[in-house]
Amino acid sequence: MQSKNNVLEVEISKEVNCSREIAKWNYWDHEHLDVVHGGYKSVDTLYDADNFCFNYTRVKIPVIPFLSSMTPLFLVQHDEFTQFTYAIQFGVVSRTTIKIEEIKKDKCKITMNYKFHLNGWKKILRPLLKYLIPIWNKKVWLEDLPVKLRRQKVLEMGHRDFIGLPNDISEREGHEIKKTKLPLARPRNSSRDQHPLSKHK
Ligand SMILES: [Fe+2]
Repeated sequence: MQSKNNVLEVEISKEVNCSREIAKWNYWDHEHLDVVHGGYKSVDTLYDADNFCFNYTRVKIPVIPFLSSMTPLFLVQHDEFTQFTYAIQFGVVSRTTIKIEEIKKDKCKITMNYKFHLNGWKKILRPLLKYLIPIWNKKVWLEDLPVKLRRQKVLEMGHRDFIGLPNDISEREGHEIKKTKLPLARPRNSSRDQHPLSKHK
């Protein structure tokens, strides 16, 4: 049994003007990570399937610009709107739980729960992590926000991935937003799939 004191828990909830399907899509769109987020230096997707993914990433630690770590990330869609991400950084195991609740068709609430297992010497990291998590969360949230809002807008206009918007301008409104299906399609030879041990190699 682990004592409760070994776990640092931080929970942050926010509302956003997009469908819950788009919020879910954003968490599974590995291609945007190193493009949209300053904190990801590289992302290799080694294996993904319909409810899990194993990524190997280089993550920059916020506020301490010279510090980055190679971080394995295991993502799993636990139920339709609950996702876990397990990470190990500097020997610290963490689990981020993302829960998405619908408020309206085009508005949802995202609850982001962070847990860090700080046993042994790692206890000394508690104040630093407590300080860094909200900074990391705010930065990532603001970077993702225009991505979600833009996708909401273009899906309502009938955009289809790899195809584009309807040619007829009169058909570019009032489209239903479809369910997010995993794994998300990537272009052939995507930069995510170049690691020599990727399932595509
Ligand atoms: Fe993101």
